[in-house]
Amino acid sequence: MKLVVVGATGYVGTEVIRLALRNKAITSVIALSRKPVNVPSHLGADADTSKLQTVDLQDWEKPYPDAVKGKLKGADACIWMLAVTPTKSKDRDFGEVTKVCLDYTKNGLENLAALASTDKPFRFIYTSGVAVERDQTKPLDVLSDYRLMRGRVENFIIDFAKLHEPNVEVAITRPGGIEGPGHPKTEQGSILFSKFGATPWIHVSELAAAMIELCVSGITKETLWSKDMQEIASKVLKMEDYVPGERF
Ligand SMILES: NC(=O)c1ccc[n+]([C@@H]2O[C@H](COP(=O)([O-])OP(=O)(O)OC[C@H]3O[C@@H](n4cnc5c(N)ncnc54)[C@H](OP(=O)(O)O)[C@@H]3O)[C@@H](O)[C@H]2O)c1
Repeated sequence: MKLVVVGATGYVGTEVIRLALRNKAITSVIALSRKPVNVPSHLGADADTSKLQTVDLQDWEKPYPDAVKGKLKGADACIWMLAVTPTKSKDRDFGEVTKVCLDYTKNGLENLAALASTDKPFRFIYTSGVAVERDQTKPLDVLSDYRLMRGRVENFIIDFAKLHEPNVEVAITRPGGIEGPGHPKTEQGSILFSKFGATPWIHVSELAAAMIELCVSGITKETLWSKDMQEIASKVLKMEDYVPGERF
């Protein structure tokens, strides 16, 4: 299958690329990015790096250029991780953050769905967060504007899939904290994420493996929480598949 990875230079995206290069069911990995995407380290002997191609995109708001469309054509699935995270959004203009999180995603889904193969559904896996709120009337105590804005992204994706049924299938993943090498669990994070769900943390390899599995084998649920993704990952991920490094 042909998989498009967006946000491939990021923390989660790097692990998605690493596991996708090891996955035999995936024959082509297109990293759509404004920067070159490097082959991750610790790939393992079974990885096929020749499957990876970076497709350069600088303007994420306009219809994608023909050269880009040509590379994306016939994609079976996309894992979308492009966003300004809450931590990185703190010192940024909120209009700019909204443009990146909301407008780029809308434009991306529209472009990708139009280029997908017509003989089977196009699968779009969106990486969101545990505290995101879809109900735009709900008063929120902290990070209200950001959480509601990410909720609007989710609402758009869900509505888009309904409008394009059965050609587009979507899944929204809702991780809390994402632990991994260099990203240890923290006490503060455990307290915060516990407020939103029983499973505050997921390992980055589990999240990446679960999202890839949804692309390869099909979407089981529209909204997936950490425990759902850990259950999927437990079926496909072996101990040696985890990104090497400190495990908490
Ligand atoms: N990390 C966590 O603990 C955590 C927890 C829960 C949910 N999440 C969610 O998971 C997703 C991925 O998070 P992450 O930690 O992997 O984020 P990250 O490391 O900050 O990566 C963000 C990605 O988005 C791209 N991006 C950001 N601004 C862009 C722009 N203006 N134009 C083009 N590309 C842009 C970055 O590309 P460049 O390299 O080109 O900037 C990078 O590939 C996000 O939706 C996040 O909210 C993360």
